Amino acid sequence: MDVSPQRTAVIGAGYVGLTTGACLASLGHHVVCVDVDEAKIARLRQGRVDILEPDLPELVAAGLTDGHLDFTGDVTTAVRAAEVVFLCLPTPMAADGRADLSAVESVVAELGPSLPTGCVVVNKSTVPVGTAAWVRRMLDRDDLAVVSNPEFLREGSAVQDFLNPDRIVVGSDDEDAARRVADLYRPLRAPVVRTDAASAEMIKYAANCFLAVKLSYVNAIAELCEVFGADVDAVTTGMGHDPRIGRAFLRPGPGWGGPCLPKDSSALLRMADTAGVRFDLLQAAVDDNTRQGERVVRRLAEELGSLHRARIGLLGLAFKAGTNDLRGSPALRSAELLVAAGAEVTAYDPAVSLDLHHIAVVDDAYQAVKEADAVLLATEWPEFRALDWTAIAELMNGTLVFDARNHLDPAAIDEAGLTWRGIGRMV
Ligand code: UGA
Repeated sequence: MDVSPQRTAVIGAGYVGLTTGACLASLGHHVVCVDVDEAKIARLRQGRVDILEPDLPELVAAGLTDGHLDFTGDVTTAVRAAEVVFLCLPTPMAADGRADLSAVESVVAELGPSLPTGCVVVNKSTVPVGTAAWVRRMLDRDDLAVVSNPEFLREGSAVQDFLNPDRIVVGSDDEDAARRVADLYRPLRAPVVRTDAASAEMIKYAANCFLAVKLSYVNAIAELCEVFGADVDAVTTGMGHDPRIGRAFLRPGPGWGGPCLPKDSSALLRMADTAGVRFDLLQAAVDDNTRQGERVVRRLAEELGSLHRARIGLLGLAFKAGTNDLRGSPALRSAELLVAAGAEVTAYDPAVSLDLHHIAVVDDAYQAVKEADAVLLATEWPEFRALDWTAIAELMNGTLVFDARNHLDPAAIDEAGLTWRGIGRMV
């Protein structure tokens, strides 16, 4: 293979870290992944992957078997022989909306003295602009370089995204370090955007926040479609043919969520605010997104007359299909708003089985809709398209199916004697 194997350490075995480690190992590099969660490390050593991510368990197993991938709970051991060290640490939203860098800070403080001479430290997590320079100052060693190399993978297709990237962004003032990082990815034959660290950090925020704005825009267009009797599917198809707009990320829904878009838009807004720069467009996208979640619940209330003691069968809990992640989930938020309005919610999600406060979680879709006054589809799992709507009509008390993802076939629901309602569509 077209690769010069490098010894790498990946600090943090979450979504980004584990995918990075397993994929770099599959490219022929030698990888040690480290995490503070000892129990997780013990499971990973046995090839057990906690997150739902296609191809990841197979890549982890292959790496363990061929010896390219190893796991440890000890940072010092992990970095001892490393040529490149990836920081893939959580940067959650702090109470004030900023990105919380305490995990990065404590890891850098701990590993600084142990890093071998000439080692390159790579920031892969989404971190505020200026973090690479800050890490550089904290390390305070002339023999080390810091590179910003943001990751663009999506949950649910993390391995595919990592191995087929649209671009590799490498930001650093250190030419040699930047080349070494870019070389790690050479087998992927992706375009490399070579820039300074601050621009690389900004690229990640600018991309995620652009996607957030695009989604709030399409959700607002969907609302207008409802008012004017237009069909948002036709509208987005017509828009998407224009290559300047593109077809992707134009599906209206119950609002955008997940662990990244909300956190990153909040962090960029705080960065802008601190710098005295107005970013009203992004703030409006965030506010519209909050309203979008409320609008779904309001429409249900209007259709049912009242939500008080209404029984809602909720299809989907994860923030999108293909993942079991509930962080920032619009489905969960809808459920919470419904419960707050006095409704009783019974939910089913193919990837979620935990018990949730105030929300009964059951094992299949038919149990969730039993005696329901309305069904709310909030996550676009493919299996929901194959449901037997005639059977569901018999199980339900009411007739309303509110499809907040425009995911179902309205004709099949209509034939079963039920009433389909979607977002931005009058069918
Ligand atoms: C997002 C970005 O898409 C990745 O490029 C980025 O690497 C990642 O964040 C990150 O920063 O780590 P992800 O959080 O996995 O990826 O989720 P997306 O697929 O972007 O979806 C975000 C939200 O938008 C979900 O709630 C999804 O349901 C919603 N969405 C997406 C729509 O409502 N309509 C669409 O057309 C697309």
